[in-house]
Amino acid sequence: MKSHILNHLSQSEKPVSGETLSQKLGVSRVAIWKHIRQLQEHGYDIEATPKGYRLLSGPDTPFPWVFGQRAARVLYFPIVNSTMDEAMTLARDGCPDFTVVVADRQTKGRGRLARQWQSIQGGLYFTMVLRPNLLPAESALINLAAAVDMAETLISLYGVKAQLKWPNDILVGHRKLVGILSQMAAESDRIDFVNLGIGVNVYNDTKNVHPPAVSLVDLTHQPVSRSDVLITFWDRFEKRIKDGDLQNVIEQWKQYAVTLGRNVSVQTLKERIEGKAVDIEPNGGLILETAAGERKTIIYGDCFHKDN
Ligand code: BTN
Repeated sequence: MKSHILNHLSQSEKPVSGETLSQKLGVSRVAIWKHIRQLQEHGYDIEATPKGYRLLSGPDTPFPWVFGQRAARVLYFPIVNSTMDEAMTLARDGCPDFTVVVADRQTKGRGRLARQWQSIQGGLYFTMVLRPNLLPAESALINLAAAVDMAETLISLYGVKAQLKWPNDILVGHRKLVGILSQMAAESDRIDFVNLGIGVNVYNDTKNVHPPAVSLVDLTHQPVSRSDVLITFWDRFEKRIKDGDLQNVIEQWKQYAVTLGRNVSVQTLKERIEGKAVDIEPNGGLILETAAGERKTIIYGDCFHKDN
């Protein structure tokens, strides 16, 4: 209901009467008034005049109703330990495909390889539960696809020069704008779910983040919106996964990649390997050529560019 009310108000310059809203939405004027009051309590500046209601401004908070028809699949927290934990519980309890947990802040935000992810107010922190019809070995392609779709989201909305570092970090210059972490539950021949956790630096302060990070607002000096980023990414990514469009993802990823051709050091769960990044395997693994001329493929790890 709230998304319908906001929709009507945002489409009209003039005040919209309670009577009109109640007729269009098939509920009483009292019900409309209650929703308006709740929206005002959540930070929406809605003017109530004898001629009706007028939306002056709204907060950039990813409340479920911001997502229209998808609202029932969005769980929003002002603060949470980690959206990964909430998504894991929901996924195990059988929540639908493309359920999203989103938070304003996380007290235990996690990065890859057991690192922390600073999650202060102003960043976008969400986890999407996916139930793709894919083999477990194909799951890395989902992460690469998410990185491509998020990079294209940020390029199309804000014109930033987003680039990809293997496997799925989004950088601008040498500073990190987006991090992606995924968790999978699978049997030998089918994926049960993949939880895709994405952190985007939007207008959070990144001065004290290491390795160096940057936010969208620092790059653009324009108004930026967490909700717009999530909605635009969701549109692209859900369409891609539902269309089964993963066959071109390696080529798409390569268009934005800054890792290939570089000397890198890759930290895996058990060792550190150095070499030149020469290519990507069809399953998303990174192919390194070591100083001894050996070729090694790395499936999971974190990559550092040595010649920044
Ligand atoms: C990385 O680059 O190391 C991955 C960072 C992933 C951070 C996101 S924020 C939303 C979700 N919840 C978490 O605790 N982590 C992921």
